[in-house]
Amino acid sequence: MVSASGRGFDSRRLHHFSFDSLSLSGGPHFILIAMKKVVIAIDGPAASGKSTTAKRLAERLGVLPIDTGAMYRAVTLVTLEAGIDPHDQKKVEEIAQHLEIQQVFENGEVRTFVNGQDRSRDLRTPEINRWVSLVSSYPGVRRSLVEKQRAMAKRGGVVLEGRDIGTVVLPDADLKIFMVASPEERARRRWKELQEAGMEIPFEEVLQEILRRDHLDSTRADSPLKKAEDAVVLDTTNLTIQEQVEAILELLKKRGLDP
Ligand code: CDP
Repeated sequence: MVSASGRGFDSRRLHHFSFDSLSLSGGPHFILIAMKKVVIAIDGPAASGKSTTAKRLAERLGVLPIDTGAMYRAVTLVTLEAGIDPHDQKKVEEIAQHLEIQQVFENGEVRTFVNGQDRSRDLRTPEINRWVSLVSSYPGVRRSLVEKQRAMAKRGGVVLEGRDIGTVVLPDADLKIFMVASPEERARRRWKELQEAGMEIPFEEVLQEILRRDHLDSTRADSPLKKAEDAVVLDTTNLTIQEQVEAILELLKKRGLDP
């Protein structure tokens, strides 16, 4: 497969395409086949099932999942480790500006490298949960991370999940999903996840923490959590992960976007 410049194509959509060149035997002809590389945006409140769905969907479609929440968590981690007060907006924005971040998808999991080190395990602690919504409300932090996210999505073949993907980061995404579930169900899922990771936190505390973060995320001035007008709402309260993934694959099929 080769990448080629796409003269004759709409250049605004150019990054969504790759070109396969086929050499026909016996002739000097080349046929250019434009293959659309899908771009999917998944947004929604805390623990609504975005990460798991994005990963499973990525496996099924052979695309790359990008966990934008992990990027805001990474800025929070570096801030706290540097002994900087998360209320110090200017310093936190500087950290985001200089942050080196990569994500790789391996064995069905997204691993996040922060300044060269795999910090995936350190990003989901109660301490990070406590501060991440404040850190992600700073416009300078968002500017730096959105730029990185757009660069990661540039070649297409991606599923990005977060809070502002359909509204701000990728307003031209091929499919936008707004994933919701009842607060109790979301807290139940997160409580179970924490238990499995060896963190014993009372259910009520997990629920309050989720509600607090949702409130902060949806009331902030810059890029609040909200459904894009053209997003499809997917209520996962009574769905299994398998059913969630199938529902999205069905939507892609209806739009002629399945591989
Ligand atoms: O996994 P969970 O839904 O609990 O959270 P996350 O997706 O890891 O996101 C952590 C936090 O990062 C959110 O509560 C938001 O404050 C922030 N975030 C954001 O502002 N914009 C995004 N695109 C993604 C996350």
